Amino acid sequence: FSDVEGDLNEILLTQEQIHDKIDELAREIERDYAGERILLVGVLRGAVMVMADLARALKVDIEMDWMAVSSYGTGTQSSGVVRILKDLDSDLTGRRVLIVEDIIDSGLTLSWLRGNLASRGAASVDICALLRKPEAVKVDVEVKYLGFDIPNKFVVGYGLDYAERYRNLRGVAVLAPHVYE
Ligand code: PRP
Ligand code: MN
Ligand code: MG
Repeated sequence: FSDVEGDLNEILLTQEQIHDKIDELAREIERDYAGERILLVGVLRGAVMVMADLARALKVDIEMDWMAVSSYGTGTQSSGVVRILKDLDSDLTGRRVLIVEDIIDSGLTLSWLRGNLASRGAASVDICALLRKPEAVKVDVEVKYLGFDIPNKFVVGYGLDYAERYRNLRGVAVLAPHVYE
């Protein structure tokens, strides 16, 4: 990725670290949902990489569906008011839903989404997130399957973007301030 190397400060997580962690999470998930069909709900667009790798790491039959949401905010402040841009195609009645996310930042998106999905009659709604920034969390969200707690820095890669770029980096890296300043 030589054309964006100058935009990155440090590699926080390598492709290998991420894949090892996703395998670990997959083993826990298989154990917890033994004999039950899971509906994985990916949150577009950041979650696409986690979803693709987690779904393939799971050695059980799953279903996948997708939602796109956007949180209203005043400038840089996220308000916690979320709008659905693309809704699920699946009926959640009686389903065991596992929301798949790339990162929990303030927690506002997931805390709203969990409530929204739970109100549709799902048998259970749990969360799997690859990353969490404990120092940025404003609303506590119970995450059943968490990959890594990371420092409160601007990170990109493995689905995470800055202005829609860098999502296709294989690892997670800290973005150099000169890119966004
Ligand atoms: C990012 C990230 C999470 C959310 C976390 O998505 O992918 O979905 O923000 O933030 P929060 O915990 O403060 O709510 P974003 O809205 O940038 O959309 P994207 O996934 O399309 O990049
Ligand atoms: Mn997202
Ligand atoms: Mg984004």
